[in-house]
Amino acid sequence: MERFLKLKSGVNLFIREAFVEDAERLHDFYKKVTSETEYLITKPEEVFDVPTERQMIRIYRNQHNRLYLVALTSSNVVGTLKLAGNRRKRVEHVAELSIAVLKDWWGFGIGGALMESAIEWARGHGIERIELTVVDENERAIKLYEKFGFAVEGIKKKAAKLSTGYRDVYMMALLL
Ligand SMILES: CC(C)(COP(=O)(O)OP(=O)(O)OC[C@H]1O[C@@H](n2cnc3c(N)ncnc32)[C@H](O)[C@@H]1OP(=O)(O)O)[C@@H](O)C(=O)NCCC(=O)NCCS
Repeated sequence: MERFLKLKSGVNLFIREAFVEDAERLHDFYKKVTSETEYLITKPEEVFDVPTERQMIRIYRNQHNRLYLVALTSSNVVGTLKLAGNRRKRVEHVAELSIAVLKDWWGFGIGGALMESAIEWARGHGIERIELTVVDENERAIKLYEKFGFAVEGIKKKAAKLSTGYRDVYMMALLL
């Protein structure tokens, strides 16, 4: 999967799968993005170290129903999207989605471009259901997911503990 796009915002974006050689800059990306938002589960001090990140990339590259996308402007990583398909046969058509874009780049259409690429890839790789969880007050992400047809299937009460207190978490899914 490789895509060059010029977004409506004028941004030139390159979307491709992560390589093992990206591990270091992905580590730096996660350190930054996790310090910019509380809507990702991972805290900065919990970000994978570089060898573990390298191992993650290998796992994604070697499993037929897993996808690890990076979005680059020039050669800087500005966003990532992971689709983690299940291993067991009865649920291997189901994949969990996670997405993150650096704060300076929010609102430029990068999240949308990543979602579009991932959904197109999923259709061609036997994935029939994409699911995710999102904090109930994360309006930007919820809007993005709804734009691509995701629907709320359930609410997990007090499932996230943020600095402002407990938040409910929506379970959302898209049937392809
Ligand atoms: C959620 C996230 C991935 C969106 O990425 P993005 O690059 O800003 O997304 P886009 O620019 O493609 O915008 C997507 C949609 O968000 C909505 N949106 C944009 N700005 C918004 C705002 N200020 N408030 C609410 N919704 C907004 C719009 O519906 C927009 O689509 P449209 O412009 O076609 O109408 C990004 O904000 C992010 O990484 N946030 C922190 C991490 C996170 O929350 N990840 C998801 C965890 S479940």
